This record gives sequence, C-alpha cells and structure tokens, in this order.
Amino acid sequence: MTTEKATILKLQLPTDPRWVRLVDENLEEILTDHAYCEQKAASSCISLIIQFPERQELVDVLTPIVAEEWEHFQRVIALIRKRGFQFGRKRTDEYAVALGKLERKGDKIERQLMDKLLINALIEARSCERFKILWKNLQDEELKQFYYELMASEAGHYVTFVKLAKAYMPEETVKARWEELLRQEADIIANLKVRPDRMH
Ligand SMILES: [Fe+2]
Ligand SMILES: [Fe+2]
Repeated sequence: MTTEKATILKLQLPTDPRWVRLVDENLEEILTDHAYCEQKAASSCISLIIQFPERQELVDVLTPIVAEEWEHFQRVIALIRKRGFQFGRKRTDEYAVALGKLERKGDKIERQLMDKLLINALIEARSCERFKILWKNLQDEELKQFYYELMASEAGHYVTFVKLAKAYMPEETVKARWEELLRQEADIIANLKVRPDRMH
C-alpha cells in the first residue's frame, strides 16, 4: 500500500510491506486472528449498546453492525473449516490494548464516549487498510474476493463510527481528537513487531 492510499483512510503510517508476505505463508494463523478481530468488533458494539442504552442513535446504528461483524466471524470460521485449518486460541491483541489506553476516563461521559467511538473507528480503518493489502496481494482467488468484500464493509463501519461521534460531540472537537488519535495510532503501529499471526 502506498502512502497515498493510506491517506484515503487518514491513517498516518502505511502497513509494513513485509507483513503481507509473512501472512501469505501463515494463513492458518492469520485466519484465526482475523476471526477474533470480528468477534471483538461485535463484542465492542454490544458493550457500547449496554453502556449507552439511552443514546437512541447509537443503539439503532450499532445493533445491525453487531450482526454484520458476527456474520464476518462466521465467514472466517467457514474458511478455516473448508481449508482443514485449526481454529486456534485467542491471542493478546497488543494493538487494541494500546489503543484502549488512549481512552480518557473520568466524569466527562460524552468525552469518554467520543474516545470509544473514535478508537473503534481507528480499528475499522486499520482493518480496512489491511484487508485491502490482502485483496491486492494474496494469490488465492477465494481469499482475494473475501477480503475485497470485507474491506468495503469495514470502510463503511469506519465512517459510521466517526459520524456517531459527531452526533454526540461538536464537530470541531471530534476533528481535533481524531487528528490526535491518528498520530497516536501511527506511533502504536510503528512500535509493534511485524508478525505473521496478527491482523494488526
Ligand atoms: Fe468485520
Ligand atoms: Fe467492522
């Protein structure tokens, strides 16, 4: 992925080109990690709904996304089964843990909600970037098509999370925080090892 393409998603650091080569040789590992990424995406939406039930727009927008993410999970599991791979155990997600630490807690609940939504948006954007790399670079036709479809879906989720943040906080506040988080996300990516068994 070129810097120009990463810019469309506003990400500040494109994925290391070594990553996709490692992935191509370790499909079983990456599919396992990918399945958990989808599970975490669904779980994260469920948590938001439970934490903020009085926010009607949030509940109505995120409820169908839970179903979409779970459908992605089902599709990854089906690919694992079809190829005779083993669905492995969940790994520590250093990327999501590091991003989670950027969330500001305390009594400003709207600010915390904005941080949660924007962190979800970042994960969607980075997933979208990685799926695009897989679509463009994998040899396997079925996986290429699969990642093409998921890339489009996660791009939609990324936009949805940013929009939701703007529904609850002034646009300028969201923009400023988004810029800040984009820089921090790039630092996190720069400091993570390139691994064949992690989607992020
Ligand atoms: Fe997904
Ligand atoms: Fe998503």
